[in-house]
Amino acid sequence: MIHLLTGAGSGIGAAVARRLHERGDELVLLARSPERAVELRTAYDGSTVLVADLARPESVESLALPDGLDSVVHAAGVVELGTVAELSVEDWSSQLWVNLVAPAALTRVALPALRAHRGTVVFVNSSAGLTAHRSWSAYAASKHGLRALADSLRAEEAQHGVRVSTVFPGRTATPMQEKVHRQEARTYDAARWIRPDTVADAILHVLDLPADATIPDVTVRPNR
Ligand SMILES: NC(=O)c1ccc[n+]([C@@H]2O[C@H](COP(=O)([O-])OP(=O)(O)OC[C@H]3O[C@@H](n4cnc5c(N)ncnc54)[C@H](OP(=O)(O)O)[C@@H]3O)[C@@H](O)[C@H]2O)c1
Repeated sequence: MIHLLTGAGSGIGAAVARRLHERGDELVLLARSPERAVELRTAYDGSTVLVADLARPESVESLALPDGLDSVVHAAGVVELGTVAELSVEDWSSQLWVNLVAPAALTRVALPALRAHRGTVVFVNSSAGLTAHRSWSAYAASKHGLRALADSLRAEEAQHGVRVSTVFPGRTATPMQEKVHRQEARTYDAARWIRPDTVADAILHVLDLPADATIPDVTVRPNR
């Protein structure tokens, strides 16, 4: 199988990339910079690494993608906490670009290849895509939007055999969660949260589902 993956340099995306690479699947990875691309090429021998900064979604439009893709896994994301009284336009726009507009733009560019292989699109969303708590407005808005993108895309692409799944993880032990704890002024204990590999398990389950069924949504919560 051949997969296009964003966010492979860290956290959940890195866990998915590692697992797919270990089992011999072909990887096309999207790195935000040439420096990150060198790291990913070294870590994932034999993979194709393309450069695009998802904070500038137009940068995905010139990507040279393969003719066929079995999946696109959108794992890249950013978070910036703050009340509405505090968040700047830059805070809003960076989260909306990376978490919502870029996945839409990249999906559009990848659709011909996905249709060719009757592939699967996986959006890594968040429990914040289902409920918006105080200080999470911009991130939650981007993830609520990502859910809408997934639901519309699913309805549009079923006729082309493309399956669309959203995975909603709760707090997961990654560098993003460490940053969230810093912003919340809380002590970080990775053992309290979901392991990135467990979220990767859910994503691989979606990718490996036989063609007679689809899993529209998966919610993964810490067990405590
Ligand atoms: N951790 C959690 O508790 C949690 C919970 C629910 C949902 N999620 C979601 O899960 C996904 C993965 O998060 P994570 O926790 O694994 O975060 P992470 O460890 O911070 O990794 C985020 C990844 O996104 C990439 N990225 C960020 N901005 C980018 C840009 N402008 N262009 C290209 N790539 C960019 C990063 O690239 P670099 O490595 O180059 O920085 C990194 O590889 C995100 O969508 C996040 O919203 C996380």
